[in-house]
Amino acid sequence: MEDLDPLAQSYLPQALWEFGSVGVEDNLSRNANRDAFNDIWLQPRVLNNVSNRTIRHSLFNKNYSAPFGIAPMGASAMFGFEADLNFARAAKKENIPFVVSGSALVPIEKITAVNPEVWFQAYVDADRCSIGILTDRIWNAGIRNLVITVDVPVPGNRAATLRKGFEYPIRPNFNMAVDALTHPSWLIKTFFRTLLSSGLPHIENYGPTRGIPIISLGASQRKHVRDGLNWEDIQWLRERWKGRLMIKGVLSAEDAKIGNSIGLDGIFVSNHGGRQLDTAVAPLKVLASIAAEKGNMAVLFDGGIRRGTDIIKALAVGADFIFVGRPFLYGAALYEEAGVTHVINLLSEEIDRNVALLGCSNLNELASRIIS
Ligand SMILES: Cc1cc2nc3c(=O)[nH]c(=O)nc-3n(C[C@H](O)[C@H](O)[C@H](O)COP(=O)(O)O)c2cc1C
Repeated sequence: MEDLDPLAQSYLPQALWEFGSVGVEDNLSRNANRDAFNDIWLQPRVLNNVSNRTIRHSLFNKNYSAPFGIAPMGASAMFGFEADLNFARAAKKENIPFVVSGSALVPIEKITAVNPEVWFQAYVDADRCSIGILTDRIWNAGIRNLVITVDVPVPGNRAATLRKGFEYPIRPNFNMAVDALTHPSWLIKTFFRTLLSSGLPHIENYGPTRGIPIISLGASQRKHVRDGLNWEDIQWLRERWKGRLMIKGVLSAEDAKIGNSIGLDGIFVSNHGGRQLDTAVAPLKVLASIAAEKGNMAVLFDGGIRRGTDIIKALAVGADFIFVGRPFLYGAALYEEAGVTHVINLLSEEIDRNVALLGCSNLNELASRIIS
């Protein structure tokens, strides 16, 4: 899947490529997410007749075709034309979950019209009135699986992109114009097409109505500070939200314990793809200790997944389901729905092949095949 990286890098304006691909500060956490997989080795068994194997996997009483889904990624539709709709379409056809980002540039109602089973990831602050208004809208759009991202009390330090003036909203400048003009495929296939079909992209799903445009000369810069949010707010939401409730960005067993005690349905063990606290531990390193405290919750995992074996390892260590970010973003940017489907197929084939090579018939047998 990493073959998509150089292709996406040449297709996208440099500022956008950096916004998607880099982490924060020195990229230590982003790189550690990948490196952590190299510390785990697999031990195959032989002569097991694996001819009836399956990679289907169940989560929340639903049987998916594969054990992974598409992670929430904000501003995806700046990378690929209507990327969120293409994630939703491909996820529906291939029967995997897709979590719509709270910073998506496509209205949630348009996405649920394409795929009524998408999940929604919200960014909320401690203002319960706004949480109520947003979650009412989300519920009315048909969403039943809600994920609250909790690892961004203040924005991470995206030094590389800030240097290019890439803030929210983006203030266009001369260098950005040159950057865009020197990437004409993106300019025509993604940007102009978006302008023609729906005008300037807006952050659509922060509140009851659309937010400000993501490109603006005049609008004041929003800092997205959510530093007042606490467990009582999540508990309050737990009592109010009748669907499944998860939090995303958990890296400690103590937090998992609290999550279970207030009745959450799931937690995402994640460091946001290395995009918030640089030097935050790689999620794979703490996955086992968190899974031990999961109680009734599902343990969902993301960060650095680029191979079928990565998914196999995370499942074997204790995750119940896996999510993947950047490769889907690049697939959608380059080849729209076909690119998303391609990534799903590549990962599924790799999992199927490697499950067979491990001498397993299903994903529940993987735990006995790791050496760490
Ligand atoms: C461009 C981009 C935008 C993202 N936007 C969000 C977001 O809006 N909400 C969120 O919870 N996580 C967001 N993430 C983090 C992903 O959900 C996920 O945690 C991360 O990408 C997983 O790492 P991977 O890209 O190595 O698979 C974003 C990631 C990227 C690359």
